[in-house]
Amino acid sequence: MPISIRALRSSHPAFAGEVSGVDITRPIGPEDVAAIEAGMDAYAVLVFRGQDLTDEQQLAFTLNFGALERYKTPGHVRKRDDNRLGPGIADFSNLDKHGNIMSPEDRVWFFKLGDHLWHSDSSFRPVPAKYSLLSGRIIPSWGANTEFADMRGAYDALDARTKAEVEDLICEHSLIYSREAIGFTGLTPEEIAAFRPVRQRLVRTHPVTGRKSLFLSAHAGAIVGWTVPEARMFLRDLTEHATQREFVYSHAWRPGDLVMWDNRATMHRARRFDRNEVRDVRRTTLAGDAPTVEQAPVA
Ligand SMILES: [Fe+2]
Repeated sequence: MPISIRALRSSHPAFAGEVSGVDITRPIGPEDVAAIEAGMDAYAVLVFRGQDLTDEQQLAFTLNFGALERYKTPGHVRKRDDNRLGPGIADFSNLDKHGNIMSPEDRVWFFKLGDHLWHSDSSFRPVPAKYSLLSGRIIPSWGANTEFADMRGAYDALDARTKAEVEDLICEHSLIYSREAIGFTGLTPEEIAAFRPVRQRLVRTHPVTGRKSLFLSAHAGAIVGWTVPEARMFLRDLTEHATQREFVYSHAWRPGDLVMWDNRATMHRARRFDRNEVRDVRRTTLAGDAPTVEQAPVA
């Protein structure tokens, strides 16, 4: 059966699609890879149901679409020895390395709570991420949706004056800003040094489709040449605009779902769940191919 993609009813305009006719636990051929890539360009979020992936299968499927993102510095506070999972797979569960639910006072948990703010993965890296693939292994009984916002639709809906205003703006993104936004300010000097802000264009053009989108993220905390309060208010206004229900698809997880999204055209956020229940979701992330703007020299 060839791959087919149907628009998910709850998204309007359609930017999330459900893929059927493919078993991604097994190697897939070049035609299927091309069909999925074309689907990603058309939709930006694709859902694959009923895929009981192992970590190895998730990695193998991911590598059909590019190279894994690899960085020397962590994107979070967990040390390598504390990892529950092997290399290449990021642990987005609420479990510690022993498989126990994290303490509510665990710093790693504070970092995870920051993902409940709208963001684009790795926008705090000089080269932000291409696709993220999240596999749902254990899903809590209530809540825990992942929501996606279509940043192409949000850009298209801006009025002409705002489009002209944002066109050449450069923002500064850092994990410091998104964690500070939820009151988590206890970063170590080493973390602050590792999370030095990077620059990103506010309007980016998709390398395949040529469509423009707003490159917003909770990690954005400054606009070059603007005062911080003016920048924060404008970024908040734009984020409110971009996350109106008409631009949002809310994914209700079932075990065995794999959701794949293009960080170059969407934002997403995690939603609340009962922290006494296990949520085991695992992410693989593909590297982007270029910075959105030339980086400022290291001071
Ligand atoms: Fe994320």
